[in-house]
Amino acid sequence: MSLITQPFKALIIGSSGAIGSAFVDVLQNTPNCTEVIGIHRHSTISIDYQNPDSIAQAAVALAGHGTFQLIINTIGVLHSEKWMPEKRLESLNFDQLTEQFNINTIGPALTIKSFSRLLDPKYAMMVTLSARAGSIEDNQLGGWYSYRASKAALNMIIKTAAIELRRTKPNVALIAMHPGMVNSSLSKPYGGESMGQSPKAAAQQMLDVVKNLSIEQSGSFISHENEILTW
Ligand SMILES: NC(=O)c1ccc[n+]([C@@H]2O[C@H](COP(=O)([O-])OP(=O)(O)OC[C@H]3O[C@@H](n4cnc5c(N)ncnc54)[C@H](OP(=O)(O)O)[C@@H]3O)[C@@H](O)[C@H]2O)c1
Repeated sequence: MSLITQPFKALIIGSSGAIGSAFVDVLQNTPNCTEVIGIHRHSTISIDYQNPDSIAQAAVALAGHGTFQLIINTIGVLHSEKWMPEKRLESLNFDQLTEQFNINTIGPALTIKSFSRLLDPKYAMMVTLSARAGSIEDNQLGGWYSYRASKAALNMIIKTAAIELRRTKPNVALIAMHPGMVNSSLSKPYGGESMGQSPKAAAQQMLDVVKNLSIEQSGSFISHENEILTW
């Protein structure tokens, strides 16, 4: 079974963002996607990683919509009004580390916990956007301490949960996905505007990869170009 051949329902978490909103657009024009729901901080059913209770509440509120065959979580943060990615050890600070881990690791982990019960036990994929910058082996440049560490920890959560679900929900896959460099407010200060691809092209490319994944690939770290990335 795959998402190419069967009708499927999709849920996009973080649908206010560049990549999240592009996923909604692309899925609305995907013939066998019968329904796509997007949620974000300000949607009717809202999810805010600064308020962890909102995660379980959103999952409960969505339960009436039945199960989903595809859930994609795009929430993530790299910089804020108060801080930019750290270039040196000297720049490490408690607030930035805490916020990056809250939004890039703890929020997505609790989302996997609460939203996995919305996945169709007969066949479903839950994709969480990670980043190649979170690969420990691929880290050649250093810097970006809290972003890299929070995405590396996210990858471990996904891998660990995938092992558990292989036993309890054998037809459900969890995937960590790197979207490539995409033009968005997240990447803009780092060349995303000139070097990144459009959110729509990235969403289409990732969807094409996801549609061809098998359940056996659960617990993998995969790029928008279908490359298996090292942890
Ligand atoms: N763009 C790239 O080049 C690139 C590269 C590698 C990985 N990624 C990953 O791809 C994902 C999407 O990035 P993007 O480029 O689409 O960035 P974006 O346009 O800035 O979107 C980020 C999303 O995260 C949401 N968000 C931020 N803080 C939140 C919080 N506390 N609670 C709930 N939602 C929150 C934003 O909601 P609001 O609209 O309410 O702020 C928005 O929906 C991220 O996980 C990022 O790490 C992106």
